Amino acid sequence: MRVLLQFPGRGVAAWREALAAALPEATIETWPDLRTATSDRAVDRPDYALVWKPPPELFTAAPPARAVFNLGAGVDALVAVPTLPRDVPVIRLEDAGMAAPMAEYVVLAVLAAHRESRAYAAAQREARWTPQPRRAPKDFGVGLLGLGVLGRAAAAALSPFGFPLHGWSRSPRAVPGVTCHAGAAELPAFLARSRMLVCLLPSTAETRGLLDRARLALLPVGAEVVNAGRGDLIVDADLLALLDDGHLGGATLDVFRDEPLPPMHPFWHHPRVTITPHVSAVTDIESSVAQVAAKIRRLERGEPVSGVVDVARGY
Ligand SMILES: NC(=O)c1ccc[n+]([C@@H]2O[C@H](COP(=O)([O-])OP(=O)(O)OC[C@H]3O[C@@H](n4cnc5c(N)ncnc54)[C@H](OP(=O)(O)O)[C@@H]3O)[C@@H](O)[C@H]2O)c1
Repeated sequence: MRVLLQFPGRGVAAWREALAAALPEATIETWPDLRTATSDRAVDRPDYALVWKPPPELFTAAPPARAVFNLGAGVDALVAVPTLPRDVPVIRLEDAGMAAPMAEYVVLAVLAAHRESRAYAAAQREARWTPQPRRAPKDFGVGLLGLGVLGRAAAAALSPFGFPLHGWSRSPRAVPGVTCHAGAAELPAFLARSRMLVCLLPSTAETRGLLDRARLALLPVGAEVVNAGRGDLIVDADLLALLDDGHLGGATLDVFRDEPLPPMHPFWHHPRVTITPHVSAVTDIESSVAQVAAKIRRLERGEPVSGVVDVARGY
């Protein structure tokens, strides 16, 4: 079995080492070394390609015969590659060590907002002793935009705190402890109940720019937004406008339209914006490789695997 591995930068060595240990029966080649070694000669088709943000020429020169594995949960960069093969399944990472850290990130942001951490930080800078009234968790609705692997993990982690949990997905879902909403028609009611809005959606043709001024204005006054899905879900200028006119209380942002976030971007210095550099759930190489190796073995036995991407839908 031949496996082609591509990962930008020096990280490829760690992926290769883990893959060799998890799948000793495979011959592993790496990109772009394969291209360099073969120059203009035709390359034998690998069985599997494991990729992250691959260059289009990879699929032209060495199209995999059995499957493409995306070395991340979000496939927006991969499905945008015009040469992505259409005759083999595209398979993404599911959880693979990301759900627990993402749930931590969400719980941290939700509890910080519920316990007024922005107001207390501002008061401390001015040496002001100003206790805020206690807010009952039952009055602090949390809306999870996206009820996939990560959204459901965040819901489970939030369940002990007593916040009313709401969720929104494309198709109807049943998640224990979560009032579920689905589709465009149910989005306004969902937003109206979300004192805290947590975005864990993929970036697709349907979701890009979803959180514009009109939709963000449907959130209750004082609401906070967390975005750990993809930066282009939010219209930056609209978020800033609603923060500045006092409708929104704050934003915690892990993902951005341009990464790294440009130094002049107004998010950096906004007093009610908290920024992290796309670290809410970093890919864990060992768990990811174990998951990919298990799926390759299933495919080799002719068994179905989960996590197959609907390329036309975009996730
Ligand atoms: N910041 C980070 O470090 C980090 C790390 C990993 C992933 N991510 C991002 O998180 C995203 C979610 O990951 P996941 O593993 O939870 O994905 P997932 O399991 O595919 O879940 C996606 C969820 O979004 C919903 N959705 C998609 N399009 C929609 C639409 N048009 N309208 C309403 N709901 C829609 C889906 O609805 P259905 O349930 O109906 O399918 C599903 O509930 C990834 O795509 C990636 O962009 C970020």
